[in-house]
Amino acid sequence: MDKLKLAVIADLHYYSPSLGTTGRAYEIRSATDQKCLAESGALTDAAFESIALSDCDAVLIAGDLSNDGEVVSHQEVKVKIDKLAQSKPVFVVYATHDWCCSEDAARYEGDQVIHEGVPTMTPPQLREFYYEYGPRDAISEYICEIGASSYCVKLKDGYRLLGINDDKNGKGKAGYSEAHLQWILKQIADAKAAGDTIIAMHHHLIMPGFSELVNGGMLIGDWQEMAETLADAGLEFLFVGHSHTQRTSCYTSKQGNRLWQINLGSSSGWPAPYTFFTIDDREAQIDVNYTTRFFYNGQVLGSDFVRAHTLGVVKNIIENADKGRDALAAQLKGYGLELDKIKVPYPIIRSLAKHVKNDSIKQAAAKVNFLTFGKGIDKKAAAELHNVKLVDLVYELFLNFFDGSLHPHAPNSAVYKVVTDAASLPRRIAAKLPVKALKKEKIQKLFADVEKTAKETLYPAVNNQHAVIARRK
Ligand SMILES: [Fe+2]
Ligand SMILES: [Fe+2]
Repeated sequence: MDKLKLAVIADLHYYSPSLGTTGRAYEIRSATDQKCLAESGALTDAAFESIALSDCDAVLIAGDLSNDGEVVSHQEVKVKIDKLAQSKPVFVVYATHDWCCSEDAARYEGDQVIHEGVPTMTPPQLREFYYEYGPRDAISEYICEIGASSYCVKLKDGYRLLGINDDKNGKGKAGYSEAHLQWILKQIADAKAAGDTIIAMHHHLIMPGFSELVNGGMLIGDWQEMAETLADAGLEFLFVGHSHTQRTSCYTSKQGNRLWQINLGSSSGWPAPYTFFTIDDREAQIDVNYTTRFFYNGQVLGSDFVRAHTLGVVKNIIENADKGRDALAAQLKGYGLELDKIKVPYPIIRSLAKHVKNDSIKQAAAKVNFLTFGKGIDKKAAAELHNVKLVDLVYELFLNFFDGSLHPHAPNSAVYKVVTDAASLPRRIAAKLPVKALKKEKIQKLFADVEKTAKETLYPAVNNQHAVIARRK
């Protein structure tokens, strides 16, 4: 079988500049978003230009094309897709942010967030609007309950693509209804009967991957049952977006069938990724590329800009918590949170922020060890990190969520030891306390997930940037 090479990109969240890119209201909106909104067009242009020049056979876009479903954002991003389609066949699925399921599409003027006069698209309109990017070439199409399109197309001799809209499973969650699932299974069976490899893409996650704690809310409903069913039906590879984190994960069914989920980061946020996926009948290869240079408003910007923007989400909270009550309250308001409703009193938040900002890891570990009678953090490992500021480690781990751990720390490293000691503290303390509630399964699962998340963030089981995966026999 010939090789197939795909470029896959997700969560462009293209934001039309006509919705406002200056003023206090926009600045608050932007500062609370991991993605670069005003710059999303420039980042999209740069990624598309690079993909157009590549040797890929087709391009897949896995949903959240627009910031929040605004008609104007769709119109403008489609101009970019049309241009890319002059070089490569393009296939699109759209998702909740393409029809603004949250109904909070807005424009920003000075201090004002204005919701009126920002029309959005509906799922049936999206099907028409992006008709040539999937449905037009479909060998089979399923119109979902919300009027969105799932389709199956032939990509090349020996390969098919299953583009799925998974916004509703009919039971109040993302996913697919029973009828939709049956259609999906038929496409997989038909491809198998024809001797074709079928590759799928939808927007939400079918497995939590590195962390249920972080990704639990991003999953389709009945995810285990669905992963089991699709793996046993013969699906090997599924591209998803939504979490804005770059991660490759595997689900193995009870029968031993492996389903790989390639979760794509957002192309408009750190690390501005787009992924090349090459497959033949023996193996598949994943290579993540990054937009490292783009042109915005007459300036050349690079990875450092995107990194600083994404980092701003957590940095601003730490800085503002230290600065004062009002500064923190304003920042939290941007996230839709009220400081008064947070159960932890502000002086404690401020004190924590000060420690995080100013302590070295060695100093922070000494404080934890004082409170835990020396049992908290490995002293030797912490001493090795006397020159590392705690805040820098916090920032690095935060970025690792998004970039799939570009800076891994091996299990024998001091950072790994210190962080996993800290992550296991809740479990270890709970084991010593005579409190029944802490022994309950739910709490134990939470503790286990904290530890698993820390380990995967430090040192992922799969290399999330480059991986070669042997196919099923
Ligand atoms: Fe998204
Ligand atoms: Fe999403």
